Amino acid sequence: MQELDSKKKIEILVRARYPLIYVISSEEQRVIETIRHISSERQKRYFVWSITKGLECDDGSCIADLREPLKMLEYLIESKNNGLYILKDFHPYLNDHVVIRKLRDVNKELKTTMKNALLLSPILKIPPEIDKEIAVIDFRLPGREDLGAIIDGIVKSVGNKKSIIQDGKLKDKVIDAALGLTAEEAENVFAKSLVQTGDLDIPVILSEKEQIIRKSGVLEYYAANEDMKEIGGLDMLKDWLKKRSKAFSKEAREFGLPQPKGVLMIGIPGCGKSLTAKAISSLWQLPLLRLDVGKVFSSLVGSSEENVRKAIMTAESIAPSILWLDELEKGFSGMGSSGMTDGGTSARVFGTFLTWLQEKTSAVFVVATSNNISQLPPELLRKGRFDEIFYIDLPTKDEREEIFSIHLNKRKRPPENFDVSILAENTRGYSGSEIEEIVISSLYDAFDRGSDIDQSTLENTATSMIPLSQTMQEEISTIREWAKLRARRATSGTEDDGSEKTRKIEMT
Ligand SMILES: Nc1ncnc2c1ncn2[C@@H]1O[C@H](COP(=O)(O)OP(=O)(O)O)[C@@H](O)[C@H]1O
Ligand SMILES: [Mg+2]
Repeated sequence: MQELDSKKKIEILVRARYPLIYVISSEEQRVIETIRHISSERQKRYFVWSITKGLECDDGSCIADLREPLKMLEYLIESKNNGLYILKDFHPYLNDHVVIRKLRDVNKELKTTMKNALLLSPILKIPPEIDKEIAVIDFRLPGREDLGAIIDGIVKSVGNKKSIIQDGKLKDKVIDAALGLTAEEAENVFAKSLVQTGDLDIPVILSEKEQIIRKSGVLEYYAANEDMKEIGGLDMLKDWLKKRSKAFSKEAREFGLPQPKGVLMIGIPGCGKSLTAKAISSLWQLPLLRLDVGKVFSSLVGSSEENVRKAIMTAESIAPSILWLDELEKGFSGMGSSGMTDGGTSARVFGTFLTWLQEKTSAVFVVATSNNISQLPPELLRKGRFDEIFYIDLPTKDEREEIFSIHLNKRKRPPENFDVSILAENTRGYSGSEIEEIVISSLYDAFDRGSDIDQSTLENTATSMIPLSQTMQEEISTIREWAKLRARRATSGTEDDGSEKTRKIEMT
């Protein structure tokens, strides 16, 4: 199914006689413009209310004594003027139980009229009493066409005749770079680029976008720069991902492939989950947005439900894209037994996310990682939510060799100068990040001594370190047991040691 644009969605609700429609957007002017279009196409009138001006009519008249929210709602019920009533920033008044009650009356009364109330606000705040009576629409960020028009406008206004965007292909790239911004943000970014470089410069636009997205609080925009080559082992996972490199292309659709939904990677800390998430973005050449799950649920950055909606919308507006939810369990620690403590917020936010994941038709690939499955709600792990769940175990001996080589190489020490096989042998139970730590810490020791690292420096550092897996034995065996039945292994090889043998005995 093709995704409906916001205008169509609003139009359908208006025609289907939904009396209360909540439109979430920080782009007041774009929304009002859209509603003005709908009303003129459907030969309806439209009115705009705000606490400062009262009710402004489409004929330019104004009813100032309707500034009081309750009076406005009364007018809405009684007025003979049919049409679309936009209520700007109505959310603060939804704290008042009389206003809430009145809105319920409005809902009932307006069903049999040709009047609709559209609550327009950048914040989603619906009291539970009217939750079921309000239809909610996330108003889309500007699409390619909208951005194209903004670019044309700004280039014309500065009279830049030689602009790169005369070239259609480059204009497309500029549009790509600006996707995910509001109309005003895009306009500002274009203006800044013109002032700074005399043209629409893609790196300038991208770096501005990065900052704007970060400022919004919970999302971080990553330019693709991690490479699959920097990941040791995990052959099965890499293979699975490589096969899906072109999964969002037109060719893949024509071939009859379904659009991939996402992947969940679970495993103990330090084994390359986050590293892999970042590498997918460069492997597939798609932008990556990281959602800070912990932050979403802290009250510091506003309502968590709204943050999740915003993140989804931003990811969709730059689609095809990757939405990375790192350490997913952090968001759900409030559910389960302590579900009462946060008033069910986590559960509701989770519901929003799950519904989206289930129904999504947009080209957003979700990459989720988790260190702890016991904190994840079982609904999330059910088949069909993700395309695949991968279990990333501690690296096997062969993988440890590879990881040593990668990290030695990264620090300009040729791995051939070391016996990585022995190092791998001596580090059973060490994670990738601990192997990296061995290399770095050895470099410090050598630097302090005034010499370079050698085999024995590395071996000694390894022996003096206690890997996390030693203190986490119980957790590791629980997660392994769980994964055996429900997840796919990220690695084809096995650790040829005692622990594997006992596992084989248990299985028969
Ligand atoms: N398989 C691996 N290959 C190479 N380096 C690794 C590997 N696993 C972990 N590392 C190193 O450890 C660091 C931390 O790993 P990370 O991916 O953040 O672990 P987590 O699984 O906890 O998300 C990485 O940035 C990388 O330097
Ligand atoms: Mg991680």
